[in-house]
Amino acid sequence: SIMKVFITRRIPQEGMKILSQAGVCKVSLWDSDETVPRAELLKGVAGAHGLLCLLSDKIDTEVLDAAGPNLKVISTLSVGFDHMAMDEIKKRGVRVGYTPDVLTDATAELTVALLLATARRLPEGVVEVKNGGWSTWKPLWLCGYGLSGSTVGVIGLGRIGMAIARRLKPFGVKRLLYSGRTAKSYAAEVEGEYVPLDTLVSESDFVVVSCALTPETQGLCNKDFFIKMKNTAVFINTSRGAVVNQEDLYQALSSGQIACAGLDVTTPEPLPTDHPLLTLNNCVVLPHIGSATYSTRGIMAELSANNLLAGLQGTDMPSELKF
Ligand code: GLV
Ligand code: GLV
Repeated sequence: SIMKVFITRRIPQEGMKILSQAGVCKVSLWDSDETVPRAELLKGVAGAHGLLCLLSDKIDTEVLDAAGPNLKVISTLSVGFDHMAMDEIKKRGVRVGYTPDVLTDATAELTVALLLATARRLPEGVVEVKNGGWSTWKPLWLCGYGLSGSTVGVIGLGRIGMAIARRLKPFGVKRLLYSGRTAKSYAAEVEGEYVPLDTLVSESDFVVVSCALTPETQGLCNKDFFIKMKNTAVFINTSRGAVVNQEDLYQALSSGQIACAGLDVTTPEPLPTDHPLLTLNNCVVLPHIGSATYSTRGIMAELSANNLLAGLQGTDMPSELKF
C-alpha cells in the first residue's frame, strides 16, 4: 500500500522530483517558505510513514506521538540534529537521515566570508559609503584585524572545522590550534595543534566555533570564556547559537573585552530586530545561511529525499545517522 509522507516546508524541486518519480509515497507538504505552525505540523504528521523536516522544526515527543506507530523514518534537511529528541526517536525504532558532507564546502566558505567581513569591518564600510561617512582616505579609519601571521583556534575540528582550517591556512596563518574531545590524526594536513580549550581561547587571534550543539557544548562560550580571550581577538560562530551565552557575548563586545564577533547562528532564530547584539558595530549577524548556495541546497534536497525513500523501503540510506 502507498505510504504517507509529510514535508514541513517547500524544498528545492530536485528533492520533490525524486519523491514523485519513486512512486512509493503520497506526499503532503506545508506549501510555504515560512515555518509550519505547530498545529499544522501535528496534523500533517498524523499517520505518516515518513517525515522530511528542517532544523527549525522541533521534533519532540509530541510530534512523534502525533505521527503514531506508522512512522519509519525522519529525514532532516540539515547536518545538525539538535532539534530532534534522539532518545525518543531511538525508543520508537525510527531511522534518521541527515545531510553531512554535501554542505561542508559551502559552510566552510561562508565561515571564511563571515570571518573576513567581521575582522575587516566590511558591513561598517558599506554603510559609511552609503551614508556619506566616507570623507577621504584616512590612515586610522576602519582598521581591523588580518589573518597573516595570526593564530587561529577552531573549536570542533570535524568535517566543517577541518574544511575551514584548510581554507584559512593559505592566508598566512602561523598557528592553527584546535580543541575537542579527541586529537585528530587528519589535523596534520593543516599542522593543527591539539590543545586544551583554555589554551586555544587565550592564545588565538581568531576563535572559530564549529562544534555540534550537545549538552557539553551548550553555553560553552560564556563569561569565563570571553574573559580569557585577547582584547584584539575575533569570535566567529557558524555552528549553533546555543553554544554561546549571548548576554555574556554582548558584555564582552560592548566592554571591549574582545574585538568583534561574527555569528551565522543565534538564539533564538530569527534574532529579534531589537536584540542588543544588533546595536553593536562590532557584531556581524547573518541569518543562518552557512549552506545556502543554490547547488548545495539542491544536493541537500536530493540527499534528504533519497534518505527518506530508503527509510520507507527499509534499504540502506545514503546518509543514515547512527545514534
Ligand atoms: C545547518 O545548520 C545544518 O545543520 O545543516
Ligand atoms: C592603498 O590603496 C595604497 O595605495 O596604499
